[in-house]
Amino acid sequence: MAEIWNIQKLLDWLVGFFTEKKIDSPRLTAEMLLSFVLGMKRIELYMHFDKPVEQGKLEQLRSLVKRCVANEPVQYLVGSCEFYSMTFKVCSDCLIPRPETELLVERAIEFLRTRAELPVQYICDLCTGSGCIATAIAKNYKGDCKVIATDICDKALAVAAENIAKYNLAEKVQLLRGDLFEPIIEQLDVREFDLLVSNPPYVSDAEYENLDAKVKNYEPKLAIAGGVDGLDIYKRIIAGAANHLKKDGALMLEIGYQQGGAVKDMLEKTNLFANIVIEKDFNNNDRIITGFRTQ
Ligand SMILES: C[S@@+](CC[C@H](N)C(=O)[O-])C[C@H]1O[C@@H](n2cnc3c(N)ncnc32)[C@H](O)[C@@H]1O
Repeated sequence: MAEIWNIQKLLDWLVGFFTEKKIDSPRLTAEMLLSFVLGMKRIELYMHFDKPVEQGKLEQLRSLVKRCVANEPVQYLVGSCEFYSMTFKVCSDCLIPRPETELLVERAIEFLRTRAELPVQYICDLCTGSGCIATAIAKNYKGDCKVIATDICDKALAVAAENIAKYNLAEKVQLLRGDLFEPIIEQLDVREFDLLVSNPPYVSDAEYENLDAKVKNYEPKLAIAGGVDGLDIYKRIIAGAANHLKKDGALMLEIGYQQGGAVKDMLEKTNLFANIVIEKDFNNNDRIITGFRTQ
């Protein structure tokens, strides 16, 4: 007689197996896969511990577990990811949003709130990928704003469009395809923004070679690699800020943990910015740089 697996037994087995295979966050990964296969929320697993799991679902789970231990990110396997307490669609065409990036969203919303008296604020999210930054800002900033989000990759923009639609933000967030500011010059009336945000590709060539297999083999290189020193896109964004950031506007960038000094130098050399601040993430690594345009 075939062995009967209920949810509790499966979860226990998966957590043990993932721990042995040194998978990150074994319990979370087990819960994500199991809830995906069973079409339940994670919390519901704990409310139906005794529920038997049918053979077809076990087979589906087995195949996902194999891919997971071969380092395929669990977020791609289940097609979604939590970011800023929201659920975003993701697939291998876009970067998986990282918890560190939530700090950028937080600071962006705080800045917008300081200018809430303005009738509308214009925000530009360069390198939007899944659209997580643009969508999280548009959803959580309660004042009037309009977000333009650009990316060079059509497939990533298709994912962003689904995320924007899911949160009913199509009126607030407009997607444009192209190289950094290029589509803004060609297609829009709005060319100067109150806030420029970006989490650009910033990994150097040397770092890229040594990345974890989970990242290197599955996430798009276009979303990660930022040239020899990882600074290529920062140079271009900072140069473009001169034309696209309003006086008193803010530029907020995610940075690699070793890039704070170099990006700060670039900002200072423009003589456009004051109060340049580098902030650390919850792992105590430099993660966000902010500058305010003074002239
Ligand atoms: C690090 S990912 C960030 C995605 C998303 N904003 C996030 O924080 O998860 C960088 C994104 O930049 C896009 N990208 C790379 N080069 C670009 C360029 N020259 N112009 C516009 N987008 C670019 C990639 O397609 C990718 O979606």
